[in-house]
Amino acid sequence: MALHRLKIIRKDWYAKGIFGLELRLPGISPLPGQFFQVRVGEGIDPFLNRPISVASYHKGRLLLVVKVVGRGTRMLGIKEPGEFVEMLGPLGHRFKPSKKKKKSLIIAGGIGIAPMHFLAEYMYNNMINFDLLYGVRTKDEFIFRDAFMKKADRCVFVVEKGYKKKDTVVSKIQKMDLSDYGAAYTCGPREMFIALQKLHLPMPVYAFCEDFMGCGCGLCLGCAIKYKNEYHRICTDGPVLELKEIEFEV
Ligand SMILES: Cc1cc2nc3c(=O)[nH]c(=O)nc-3n(C[C@H](O)[C@H](O)[C@H](O)COP(=O)(O)OP(=O)(O)OC[C@H]3O[C@@H](n4cnc5c(N)ncnc54)[C@H](O)[C@@H]3O)c2cc1C
Ligand code: FES
Repeated sequence: MALHRLKIIRKDWYAKGIFGLELRLPGISPLPGQFFQVRVGEGIDPFLNRPISVASYHKGRLLLVVKVVGRGTRMLGIKEPGEFVEMLGPLGHRFKPSKKKKKSLIIAGGIGIAPMHFLAEYMYNNMINFDLLYGVRTKDEFIFRDAFMKKADRCVFVVEKGYKKKDTVVSKIQKMDLSDYGAAYTCGPREMFIALQKLHLPMPVYAFCEDFMGCGCGLCLGCAIKYKNEYHRICTDGPVLELKEIEFEV
């Protein structure tokens, strides 16, 4: 883990409120599932860094994909190429994609697609076959569609609002034949995790957990989650945890 001051070399708006920042950071080897603690301001305001996952890393170019949800992400969203951003990382444990003969399934909801994009790149580069199930609220929120269609064996896209037939990622998965899959990897809203957990899917499901974080490096206990009957820290024990072992407080 190290503190970096990185120059923004490119910025793109992918959808309303969702943007990507490309930063030059040679000499690191981030793995899918890892994240950075990003300083969104210049001074001490806001005091806490914001956790953002690696969405891609290629030849020293790091991509972060961010959805504007509050003050911190809004501050990041007004930064432009040529400006600098400080960040700590890479942090956390990675996904360990199964190299078994069976396929993998990536399940993403909303901005949960960001870390899943890096995982998909990793699987593609390592010849691990996977399918994608990706849901959003409205169809303008889809990002990386073309990239996934090139890399995945099969993509299932779900739009939750605006259609008479109400589909969700969870209703779709219930209709799928899951016997082909050796493992699933997921990131999305907490409600999606809770609903997926209730399905007791036949393969192990590894979840990229997002929660409020203080320090991001194991010191403050702000990210504690009940896992395997004990409290664990999402930042250092995760963010990737086995879904069936997480105790969601509902
Ligand atoms: C390990 C990790 C990786 C992440 N990766 C990404 C990523 O790649 N791209 C991305 O856009 N976001 C990611 N997030 C979520 C991101 O950190 C939050 O959206 C961000 O910190 C919100 O900051 P803010 O100041 O804009 O919002 P705030 O003003 O702090 O909050 C605004 C609203 O968002 C909700 N919120 C804030 N933080 C979270 C959170 N962590 N989980 C759920 N709801 C939250 C609040 O309840 C509130 O309603 C990640 C979170 C974690 C823990
Ligand atoms: S965020 Fe501080 S211990 Fe995890």
